[in-house]
Amino acid sequence: DKIYVGVDIGGTTIKVGLCDEEGNLTHTYEGPTDADQGPDTVLDRIAEYVKKIVEQSSYTWEQVGGIGIGIAGFMDIPEGFVKLSPNFPGFRNVPVKKTLEAKLGKTVKIDNDANVAALGEAWGGAGRGISNIVAFTLGTGVGGGIIIRDKIYQGATGMAGELGHMAIVPDIEAIKCGCGQTGCLETVSSATGIVRMAKEAVERGETTSLSELERIEAKDVFDAAKAGDEVALRTVNRAAYYLGRSMATVAVVVNPKRFIVGGGVSKAGDILFEPIRETFRKYAPEAAQEGVDIVPATLGNNAGVVGAAGLILRG
Ligand code: BGC
Ligand code: NA
Ligand code: ZN
Repeated sequence: DKIYVGVDIGGTTIKVGLCDEEGNLTHTYEGPTDADQGPDTVLDRIAEYVKKIVEQSSYTWEQVGGIGIGIAGFMDIPEGFVKLSPNFPGFRNVPVKKTLEAKLGKTVKIDNDANVAALGEAWGGAGRGISNIVAFTLGTGVGGGIIIRDKIYQGATGMAGELGHMAIVPDIEAIKCGCGQTGCLETVSSATGIVRMAKEAVERGETTSLSELERIEAKDVFDAAKAGDEVALRTVNRAAYYLGRSMATVAVVVNPKRFIVGGGVSKAGDILFEPIRETFRKYAPEAAQEGVDIVPATLGNNAGVVGAAGLILRG
């Protein structure tokens, strides 16, 4: 029997998983990304963890049918490299596929982290049984994945589905994004964006229960919002508003049956989802919202590794 390795590269942790021929996740392993040490180190870590997980399993290296990798950033999928990763320092034109194939001697396929998470959700999560899906992942950045007829839509080079970089915030309040542009969805609806907006309000001297500026995390903002803190609530609503507006736009471009929202921030629940749905309903044309729902992701942390292994298994 063959096994397939899936790798999900996050800003702090690299997760690796083994999937059997049916796509069941049989083993997982994780270790630090060490992103601050640059791309060469990250590539070494990937190779190291892939070897380690296979060693720790009951499978042999010969049984490895290939390695699928999900990585944050603007891709050149046909060429197998990452052009630029807005939240990974120094990631510019990194030949991920070629380097890892040389290090590991196996077929390597790469795709965007949010694309593979969307695929994971489509196969085994909140999108099971639905062929046309758009997924957003809310974390350090805002990722997106477009699944059309059960397949990732990559576009010409792999930029399709970079939903976090839709230029949606009006110039008058737009700030610069890690991609080099201004006003991207990611600047307001990521965990980073939520924390930034909350801190700015505190710094302006607005009355709020949020304190200890250095230590505010997105979860604190959601907790405060749930407890009725107005500054926190306004911050959450702003993040949700731009997501809802983005979905109204995406709905008339892609016409998905379901929007899935995942990533750490999505755990906030109704306080986030309700204003998203409300904004979506307000702005999307009737015919583009008919039968369309907006739901949380269900695979949690494993969507990425399962989807990544699937790049090989179902590719
Ligand atoms: C990147 C995407 C990535 C997302 C989530 C964004 O900043 O541009 O490629 O999918 O963050 O990691
Ligand atoms: Na994407
Ligand atoms: Zn951007």
